[in-house]
Amino acid sequence: MSDERLRAVRDRVRPFPDFPEPGVLFRDISPLLKDPVAFRTLIDLLEDHLRASFPKIDFIAGLDSRGFLIGPPLAQRLGIGFVPIRKKGKLPGPTESVSYSLEYGKAELEIQSDAVEPGQKVVIVDDLLATGGTMCAACELLKRLKAKILECLVIIELKALKGSEKLNSIPFYSLLQYD
Ligand code: PRP
Ligand code: ADE
Ligand code: MG
Repeated sequence: MSDERLRAVRDRVRPFPDFPEPGVLFRDISPLLKDPVAFRTLIDLLEDHLRASFPKIDFIAGLDSRGFLIGPPLAQRLGIGFVPIRKKGKLPGPTESVSYSLEYGKAELEIQSDAVEPGQKVVIVDDLLATGGTMCAACELLKRLKAKILECLVIIELKALKGSEKLNSIPFYSLLQYD
């Protein structure tokens, strides 16, 4: 993968100490979204990775809310559909839900029960993996629907929090890593 393209993305992630609470170094992707060339480069890199890794993907599932910034443009590029996994109380009809903890709090994620058919191949997309609590919760929801999770994909991995270990045997890929 091209160092130059990766650098263009990395240069547009800003650190903010002590947000949203003391002790957390927040990695802000707003400058990346604001720069159309860098944003396109980001989607190019993710598309290249997925095309090289998987011959067929049925859906991109994205996590509320920052996963919604990345998942739909990526799904469009690949010519496939997007499935939202939302925070509690936002999706109509029958849903599956799961509670989880993240680096700075607790929440609950939901998916519509008819979002994916058993055996369909799904890549889960989010902006960032910290403790892995959010991504694990999304995996649990998709497993309940008997989807085949091809990969959990993020832009940023915070290595020190060892979130990828929580995913056990589920394949994981991050574009950028921070200690
Ligand atoms: C952030 C980030 C990831 C999650 C990672 O989401 O977008 O989804 O935290 O943390 P974890 O690996 O410790 O679970 P957040 O819940 O802050 O909300 P947002 O996406 O709506 O901004
Ligand atoms: N979500 C969880 N931890 C985070 C961090 N350090 N920066 C940005 N988003 C996050
Ligand atoms: Mg999030």
